[in-house]
Amino acid sequence: MVRYEGMEFVESISASEIQEAVRRVAQAINEDYVGREPLFVCVLNGAFMYASDLMKHIKLPCEITFVRMKSYEGTETTGKVNMLIPLQEDVKGRDVIIIEDIVDTGITMHAFMNELRDLGANSVELTSFLYKPESLRYEDAKPKYYGLAIPPAFIIGYGLDINEKEANGYTPLMLAAMLCGCTTNTTNTKVGRGEQTSCHNPYQQCYYLITDFI
Ligand code: IMP
Repeated sequence: MVRYEGMEFVESISASEIQEAVRRVAQAINEDYVGREPLFVCVLNGAFMYASDLMKHIKLPCEITFVRMKSYEGTETTGKVNMLIPLQEDVKGRDVIIIEDIVDTGITMHAFMNELRDLGANSVELTSFLYKPESLRYEDAKPKYYGLAIPPAFIIGYGLDINEKEANGYTPLMLAAMLCGCTTNTTNTKVGRGEQTSCHNPYQQCYYLITDFI
């Protein structure tokens, strides 16, 4: 368990679950893009670990490039997308696959996917390691290829940061415990201090080990 900015984070997705999800996504992309040469666009900072793991399993001829965007302050979306490092490559006629860390409201990917289409990409698809279905406001930003669906809690680790911090170190992903507890269909929603229970994410194979509440 980790404390940061008044929140307690608990391990929610293990390293082996992460790797299994990454392999599953890579396999789907490998199958769907046979005969094509996609251009992957990794969205920094959050997606750097996912992109690194994903690319190890991609068996297609391909290229990768990077952009940097920011839409979050702390644990809240600002509703505005800032492009800090813009796209360098010409995407005209290319089959683009965006690599993102997490889709929350979808505002970031809605804006970026439209931009790539306007620039003349042949196709634009999205892979996001995580996806919060309950938070999605832009249907077109639903990732075609995602690793795990999670409840609308704030999560850190595996490259995902909070105010640029805490992205490192935790290979497993950590969810804010108090949010996790009230958004999953656990049979034991009230968890006492130190008590352990596992609750099952209704969306996917993703288990939380809740050990504490603030
Ligand atoms: P959206 O535009 O609301 O979908 O937010 C997407 C971006 O917000 C991601 O690329 C992340 O940078 C950030 N974000 C959203 N949710 C989280 C989270 O739970 N942890 C860390 N970053 C997040």
